[in-house]
Amino acid sequence: MPIPGPLLLALFLFLPFQTSYAQIRNQTSDFPWIPSENRTLVSNNSVFAAGFLPSRNSSGQFIFAVYYANISERTTIWSVNDDSPVNGTSSLSIAASGELRLGGIRFTGAPTSSGNASQTLSLSDDGDLSFGNWSSFRYPTNTIVPNQNITLTTLSVKKESFRFTGKELIFNGGYDEPVSYYSSNNEFLTLNELGMINLENGATFITADYGDRLLRRLKLDDDGNLRIYSFDPKLRQWSVVWQAMPELCKITGTCGPNLICMYGDTYNTTVCNCPPGFRQFPGSDECRRKTNVTKDSKFLQLDYVNFTGGSGPGNQVYFEASNFTRCEAGCLNDPKCVGFGYKYDGQRYCVLVRQLYYGLWSPSTEAAFFLRVDKSESDKTTFTGLTSVLETTCPVQVSLPLPPDESNSTARNIAIISTLFAAELISGVAFFWVFLKKYVKYRDMARTFGLEFLPAGGPKRFSYAELKTATNDFSSANVVGKGGFGDVYKGVLTDHRIVAVKCLKNVTGGDNEFWAEVTIIARMHHLNLVRLWGFCAEKGQRILVYEYVPNGSLDKFLFRSGKADYPNENGDVEGAKLLDRKPILDWGIRYRIALGVARAMAYLHEECLEWVLHCDIKPENILLGADFCPKISDFGLSKLRKKEDMVSYSRMRGTRGYMAPEWVKSDQITPKADVYSFGMVLLEIVTGVRNFDIQGSKMDSEEWYFPRWAFDKVYKEMNVEDILDNQIKGSYDSRLHEDMITRMVKTAIWCLQDRPEMRPSMGKVAKMIEGTVEIIEPKKPTIFFLGDD
Ligand SMILES: *[C@@H]1O[C@H](CO)[C@@H](O)[C@H](O)[C@H]1NC(C)=O
Ligand SMILES: *[C@@H]1O[C@H](CO)[C@@H](O)[C@H](O)[C@H]1NC(C)=O
Ligand SMILES: *[C@@H]1O[C@H](CO)[C@@H](O)[C@H](O)[C@H]1NC(C)=O
Ligand SMILES: *[C@@H]1O[C@H](CO)[C@@H](O)[C@H](O)[C@H]1NC(C)=O
Ligand SMILES: *[C@@H]1O[C@H](CO)[C@@H](O)[C@H](O)[C@H]1NC(C)=O
Ligand SMILES: *[C@@H]1O[C@H](CO)[C@@H](O)[C@H](O)[C@H]1NC(C)=O
Ligand SMILES: *[C@@H]1O[C@H](CO)[C@@H](O)[C@H](O)[C@H]1NC(C)=O
Ligand SMILES: *[C@@H]1O[C@H](CO)[C@@H](O)[C@H](O)[C@H]1NC(C)=O
Ligand SMILES: *[C@@H]1O[C@H](CO)[C@@H](O)[C@H](O)[C@H]1NC(C)=O
Ligand SMILES: *[C@@H]1O[C@H](CO)[C@@H](O)[C@H](O)[C@H]1NC(C)=O
Ligand SMILES: *[C@@H]1O[C@H](CO)[C@@H](O)[C@H](O)[C@H]1NC(C)=O
Ligand SMILES: *[C@@H]1O[C@H](CO)[C@@H](O)[C@H](O)[C@H]1NC(C)=O
Repeated sequence: MPIPGPLLLALFLFLPFQTSYAQIRNQTSDFPWIPSENRTLVSNNSVFAAGFLPSRNSSGQFIFAVYYANISERTTIWSVNDDSPVNGTSSLSIAASGELRLGGIRFTGAPTSSGNASQTLSLSDDGDLSFGNWSSFRYPTNTIVPNQNITLTTLSVKKESFRFTGKELIFNGGYDEPVSYYSSNNEFLTLNELGMINLENGATFITADYGDRLLRRLKLDDDGNLRIYSFDPKLRQWSVVWQAMPELCKITGTCGPNLICMYGDTYNTTVCNCPPGFRQFPGSDECRRKTNVTKDSKFLQLDYVNFTGGSGPGNQVYFEASNFTRCEAGCLNDPKCVGFGYKYDGQRYCVLVRQLYYGLWSPSTEAAFFLRVDKSESDKTTFTGLTSVLETTCPVQVSLPLPPDESNSTARNIAIISTLFAAELISGVAFFWVFLKKYVKYRDMARTFGLEFLPAGGPKRFSYAELKTATNDFSSANVVGKGGFGDVYKGVLTDHRIVAVKCLKNVTGGDNEFWAEVTIIARMHHLNLVRLWGFCAEKGQRILVYEYVPNGSLDKFLFRSGKADYPNENGDVEGAKLLDRKPILDWGIRYRIALGVARAMAYLHEECLEWVLHCDIKPENILLGADFCPKISDFGLSKLRKKEDMVSYSRMRGTRGYMAPEWVKSDQITPKADVYSFGMVLLEIVTGVRNFDIQGSKMDSEEWYFPRWAFDKVYKEMNVEDILDNQIKGSYDSRLHEDMITRMVKTAIWCLQDRPEMRPSMGKVAKMIEGTVEIIEPKKPTIFFLGDD
């Protein structure tokens, strides 16, 4: 909304401490006040002030508000008349009866005739304006500040179309029953200055910057989202450190009936679009049908779109349908049905709707919406998926062949299997979890696939006894991994969830710090990150509870167990029998793994509220889910450790091969260190060879350096095929794979540049692999510890 010039000027002229003589310390009984006097009541600690402020909407009008006294960006925490500003002749007064009034308006909740005219108006250090028994804290408008009791209060904005009840966020647009779009299950009690919200059941939410004593406020914003803002004293500005709704389109009421909420250029802006077959009605935001539906109707498929029918009887019906045809027939048989949602996953999700409410496009909608239009409708759907083997996406049904028993199998076998697999993938991908062709700009959003935030209450706190039972007394039979951070046990919770239980060693920090860090880690949500479900910090134990990822780590797939199994120069696999027969990952899967890992790392580096370095990217830390969907584990744990520990630990473990030169040079560690490690992993994915474990005589050479070897093969000898994993070299088809593999190799070489500033950011890396940015020829990587070439 444009602000009129004169008002801008007025806002500019308005300074927090208006005129010094008009300042009153914390308490006054001097009435009436009129706007032009510029009087302010300032809290004893000078943080808050109460007084008249010019209305943002209309010049010459004023509101009476409590605001931050020393912050130049006007920030109110309470106001008596935000929606109905008064003019310059109105005053703040105490009626003879002791009633506190602004113009004609009585303060909400203020005592009527039983008031006491000789009471004073005072402003506490917390920002509570009080008059006798009346207190502004009990009647908040849209903001809660630390030490304010949240219980029994309601925040509302936009004339109550959005409300926060202390527990739920509710939209009431007037065209339907009020709907709750967020519920925390438990009442919010208070917010403290450290950035923690306490809930009724003892659970808590914490902000991304938890721990610093800052000015903070919890605000129901006009867009219907509930956010916590912290004031950065150095930058002197507010920033969002927590929000209830990470996906803005899931705030019902962001767009009106018949509209579909989508994202703008960035994920934090929304746009409302008409579905195909509808047009914007001139002069309004409304969408209307171009052609009314007659008896003859058809359906347009809108991928990733969800509409809700509304609360009236029959407006939203979960229909029992064993297949698509049944579901479609269900809608056709109801003259009022305007469309249906259907999932192709065999879960029998079929929902018939009679109204097009709360429409949204989201990559997390696993269904398509079938919009009923007249047979004559000529609009085509603009919400389509595209089918391509190489477009990533995780949840598709994938099955890989096991390596043949005879280890010296021919490449042809593998090639056949690969082709079969590709066919399967194409049909599986046809429906879901694919990118939209039309809306190319939404591609990046795929990164947020599965990006759901923590349920209320943060990570669950497990008792030691619970975990002991789950893991069968931490029996060695249940050990599924031994990592630098500690042993990992497989366990089964009482609710039958299978978990990986990681007992940490050498963790620094006390209970509170540990818990704060864990909460932050648990907030990192991405399809390609192993999910943290809870923790235990009892009896000096430090235990993390993760989702269990069934297929184990990438190294088991890439590198054959034991040296004898390494393919030799001729491409034969030595060793008669492989102890651990893991399926061979084909090129499509390898590509998906590379892209998934890159996206998750980009998320950690660039999209989290909290900046997270992994510091230990290697195949062991990349786990493969049921469909070989890669999931990074151990991220964020470096936060629990000191840098020196990390270095010595890594050296000890021999993962130096993945460590960026700056670790050795003890330079500053930036996210680019992770980029380097990722580059190594990427090369290993392509070559199937451990970077520090290369076969044959090459290894003996002092000069041998894996990235340089790859670079020479690809750029000097111009022969990509030379570096490919022998196990599946045979299935390499330059027509199908060359582009993809060269992209992976080039990206890897860029990541492996000696100088951190030469390496691309993780977000760029993901785009490079994806093929959405052009990759220029990289410079030859040098061996850092021998100095520059
Ligand atoms: C109050 O502030 C306005 C704008 O800063 C100024 O024009 C006016 O003179 C002030 N009034 C008094 C009484 O100081
Ligand atoms: C209020 O401020 C004055 C100085 O401005 C100080 O002496 C006094 O202790 C403060 N009182 C409270 C209750 O903080
Ligand atoms: C007000 O802010 C200024 C910086 O803009 C700071 O120097 C000053 O100490 C602050 N005053 C109070 C009372 O907080
Ligand atoms: C500002 O004006 C708009 C429309 O003109 C109105 O919807 C809104 O409630 C007003 N806001 C305030 C704070 O008065
Ligand atoms: C100011 O508002 C009061 C009450 O709302 C009204 O009676 C008065 O006429 C208004 N004055 C001006 C100058 O608009
Ligand atoms: C009114 O308030 C004053 C000061 O707070 C107090 O002394 C007086 O007793 C109160 N009177 C009544 C009737 O409550
Ligand atoms: C206001 O300040 C005075 C001292 O300046 C202090 O005694 C009193 O408690 C303060 N009142 C409030 C409401 O903070
Ligand atoms: C908040 O208010 C409720 C009801 O008035 C009261 O029961 C509760 O004790 C208060 N909590 C705190 C922390 O002040
Ligand atoms: C959206 O985010 C960008 C940075 O990611 C920021 O610059 C911009 O101000 C944000 N816009 C809104 C409306 O919050
Ligand atoms: C569709 O039907 C409504 C009444 O049900 C009518 O008002 C509207 O004009 C019709 N639209 C068209 C394009 O015929
Ligand atoms: C769908 O299910 C119905 C019965 O539930 C069955 O009669 C029909 O043949 C099925 N159609 C297809 C295409 O499988
Ligand atoms: C569509 O939205 C409704 C209401 O929010 C929700 O219950 C339903 O699960 C959603 N459907 C899908 C497929 O996401």
